Amino acid sequence: MNIWQQLKKPFFILAPMEDVTDSVFRQVIIRAGRPDLMFTEFTNCDGLNSEGHDSVVHRLKYLPIEKPLIAQIWGKTPKNYYDSARIILNLGFDGVDINMGCPEKNVIKNGCCSALLKNQSLAQEIIQATREGAQGKIPVSVKTRIGFNTIDTESWFDFLLDQNLAAIGVHGRTVKEKSKVPCHWDEIAKVSIIRNQKKSPTIIYGNGDVSTLEEAQEKSLLYGLDGIMIGRGVFHNPWLFSGKSIESASINDRLELLLYHLQLWDTTWDNQKHYPKLKKYFKIYLQNFKGAKELRIKLMETNSINEAIKLLANY
Ligand SMILES: Cc1cc2nc3c(=O)[nH]c(=O)nc-3n(C[C@H](O)[C@H](O)[C@H](O)COP(=O)(O)O)c2cc1C
Repeated sequence: MNIWQQLKKPFFILAPMEDVTDSVFRQVIIRAGRPDLMFTEFTNCDGLNSEGHDSVVHRLKYLPIEKPLIAQIWGKTPKNYYDSARIILNLGFDGVDINMGCPEKNVIKNGCCSALLKNQSLAQEIIQATREGAQGKIPVSVKTRIGFNTIDTESWFDFLLDQNLAAIGVHGRTVKEKSKVPCHWDEIAKVSIIRNQKKSPTIIYGNGDVSTLEEAQEKSLLYGLDGIMIGRGVFHNPWLFSGKSIESASINDRLELLLYHLQLWDTTWDNQKHYPKLKKYFKIYLQNFKGAKELRIKLMETNSINEAIKLLANY
């Protein structure tokens, strides 16, 4: 049984988030409350198979405690999907996921990610090449949206469900909508209905605007889904997957988790990632308590991890 089939339903996944869900942040989330499954940030498969390899391969760095873990890839060339799937298989990941949802202008311009909603023949070639690279040893999945300019659930998922994928993740917005309108959960529910009508074994999970584990449990039941993926919810509550509310996390809990993040970043990335990149995470831990803003401002002014750790120790 592949990892998607092994997961107990309903399952809850930490979403891939570029420049956020690296190995360090995934370990932080595990400490706060382990999701059933996690994804890497998306990794460009054309870069992975070029001279630029060294500048993208850090995205595939992980520790065994992060498993089960899916590596997500994106790109243009089917041959590079094939080669990347082989690399991912050899690195010991539990699956490979193809990004068909990123709505950024630059990737669309190159025909990548969500542009594939408008190019079914290339999407099919990419899925096939990835499957061949995965050699039947790890499952291939797709994370996508419900249409390009307009909602197109029936025809896009009719096509995708014919591709024999292990799982499909449905973000309930069109590409044009980006994150600007509320998620269309009724459309996500339709995908599950189409799957059932086609008697397809493909696992379907929904994604969009979920902010608590309770809400995820309700939505999976209400919309007939196998699981739910949550992304930005952890920015407001890193304990989300444990079911603990942010209100019940003491100031000490928050500072302790931040300290853990700082120390892990230091030992994991050394000088590979520069310190200022870490600062965007501070708000996750330092909000909604008296003195949080003042402490955050002071931390933003620090120039090294050691300086930040000292400041926290004195607090
Ligand atoms: C900062 C950021 C980076 C993201 N990077 C990726 C990515 O690398 N791959 C991907 O499939 N989706 C990416 N997404 C989309 C999320 O995985 C998710 O689909 C989206 O945030 C909606 O879920 P949410 O409302 O639970 O956050 C990103 C989202 C954010 C906010």
